[in-house]
Formats: sequence, C-alpha cells, structure tokens
Amino acid sequence: MKCILVKRKDAERIRRGLISLNLLDNKYAPKAEEDGIYFPVKGRFKGFKLVEKKLETRSPRFLSFEESLRDKLTPEEFKSVVKSFDVIGSIAIIEVPKELEKREKLIADSLLSVHRNVKSVYKKLGPMEGVYRTRKLKFLAGDKGTVTEYRENNCRFRLDIAKVYFTPRLSFERLRIAEQVKPGEHILALFAGVGPFPIVIAKMQPNVKIHAIELNPDAVKYMEENIRLNRMQEVITPLLGDVKEVIPKKFVNSADRILMPLPKGAEKFLAEAFLAAKKDCIIHFYQFASEKNPFEEVEKFVVKEALISGRKAEIAGERVVRPFAPGVVQVVVDFRVR
Ligand SMILES: C[S@@+](CC[C@H](N)C(=O)[O-])C[C@H]1O[C@@H](n2cnc3c(N)ncnc32)[C@H](O)[C@@H]1O
Repeated sequence: MKCILVKRKDAERIRRGLISLNLLDNKYAPKAEEDGIYFPVKGRFKGFKLVEKKLETRSPRFLSFEESLRDKLTPEEFKSVVKSFDVIGSIAIIEVPKELEKREKLIADSLLSVHRNVKSVYKKLGPMEGVYRTRKLKFLAGDKGTVTEYRENNCRFRLDIAKVYFTPRLSFERLRIAEQVKPGEHILALFAGVGPFPIVIAKMQPNVKIHAIELNPDAVKYMEENIRLNRMQEVITPLLGDVKEVIPKKFVNSADRILMPLPKGAEKFLAEAFLAAKKDCIIHFYQFASEKNPFEEVEKFVVKEALISGRKAEIAGERVVRPFAPGVVQVVVDFRVR
C-alpha cells in the first residue's frame, strides 16, 4: 500500500497536512518503525517519496466522526457537514443542513460506527422553544428511544431528551457554582429542569438546603428520580410550579443563593429573585447577549430591578459561559444583593 515515511518529530504536523488535503488513507493504520512513521496516503504529498509498505486495516472505531464521513460524501457535501454534536448519555443529537437531508441516514450510521458509547442518533428539527425549552427531534439511526442516563461531575441524570431541557454544555458552569457554595446556605434553584445544578451542588456541598422550582411536570418527575438516584433526598426539595407564584407564597427573604438559568427571559423573574433574597444573597443571573458587548444589557436589567425593589446590587463576577449562536453568547452575571 502507498505510504510516505515521516520523521517522528514531524509526524503530527504532516498528519494534519495530509488530513487537510484529504490525502491520508484512513482505511489503514499508520505504522511506527525505527526509521520513522509510515502514513498511508491516497496520492502524492509534496516533498515526500511514495513507498510501498504493508499496513493493518484500521477499525472504523478509531476514526473521528468527521474522518468517517470523508470517503462517503462528495467534497461539496463534506464541507456542509456540521461536525460538532451533543452526546447525552447514549444519544447523539446532530444537526443536518437542508442540502444534506438525503444523506442524513448515512451520516447517522457513520456516527454510530465510530462512537462506541452512542446507541441512538437523533436530528434537531429546530431550536429550543416554548416555556419548557424543549426541541423537536427526528430519529435517524440505532435504538429508538429518547430516555437516557447521563453522567457528569460524579452525578447521574436520567431524562427524556424529547420532553425536557438538558445540555451537557453547562457542566463546567455547574461545577463553578458548586465550588462557591458554603455550608449552611439556603439555595433556590429556579428553572431547575431535571436537577443538574442542585444535584451537582449537593454532591459537592451536602450541608445545604436546596429548593428546586420547575414548571415542566416531566422535568420534575425526572428531577425527583435523579434526586433519589444521587441520594440527595435530605438536601434537595423539588417543587412543581411557576417561580412567579411559588416565591411570593413560600420564599420571601429566605435565600442565601439563587440560581436563574433561564437565559431567554430570566429578567422577567428578577423581581421575584429580589423578593426571595436575604441580605448578602448571591444571585447567578443567566442571559443570552451579543458577543461584542456581552454584559452591558444584562447589568442594566439588574440595576433597574434593584432600583424598583429598593435594594442594592453589587456585581460580584461576570463570565461568558459558552458561545450560543453566531454573534450570540450565553453569559452569567453574579451579583450580591444588599
Ligand atoms: C433553560 S432550561 C434550564 C434547566 C436546567 N436548569 C438545566 O440547566 O438543565 C429552563 C427551565 O425553566 C423552566 N421554566 C420556564 N419558566 C418557568 C417558570 N415560570 N417557573 C419555573 N420553571 C420555569 C423550563 O421548563 C425549563 O426546564
């Protein structure tokens, strides 16, 4: 089989060069020998002689999703593939652009063949929408079924990707919040979903009391199950209800920390958050914002609501949590209420 022989010190650089020119033959595994590394190639690579070498065929499991598609699609189609995707437990959720719809089954099968842990592939049919922030999905390949178990930060979460909101992309943020929590705090986890924020916090700091409020009955059902799975019944109390109604009834002037992970619309609930905040309470306020000027609008919401509620708000920290869409980022502003 046709190869080029590359010195070890140059191997990574040349491997990348071969990939970018679509010259690396992924059907075979490169071989390291004393004189260097033999890379299987599909054609000539400038500056290197072609040599014959017998190489082992590569198992498709060693390919990345992207590499697994290169030989199956035309170069035009390959350019359109959205290479990033989410894996929640055993389910992969991919995006398929319109021009690749006819190839979606092949793309999903290819993903299944290279990711041992992925058992099902679903396609996004649109953005997160509605009050419950769920999205429509289409089954593409593998085992049909939308319930899965996801592990993060030593916690387990069961959930139905079709009925509740969940993203693995906030795992670092959950840890960041959990690390700030002090023993004895009373925490209000608003918009709690299936419970990832409260459960990660309780795992790290079990000496707290958390009330987790969520409107979607399916999410609350999974949150209850997840609280049991992670043995947090003594720490977290799930509540099915609307933050606007639950706070004035149960939690006036009671919280040391409030989480508001509802990036689209949390500003409409700032009045309730101020109502629930004890003196020195920390509020973690999430929003979508423009990448160019991410914090200005968000701070304005906080300052305005502090004024209305007759309290003081001191910004304690600001962070871009993750890119969300072109030009749009998710941010968090942490502020202290006096
Ligand atoms: C963006 S999701 C966040 C879920 C969870 N915190 C997480 O990170 O996975 C927002 C959640 O807020 C819930 N929600 C929306 N409006 C609400 C309200 N008025 N009261 C309580 N929960 C609400 C939605 O059902 C959804 O589960």
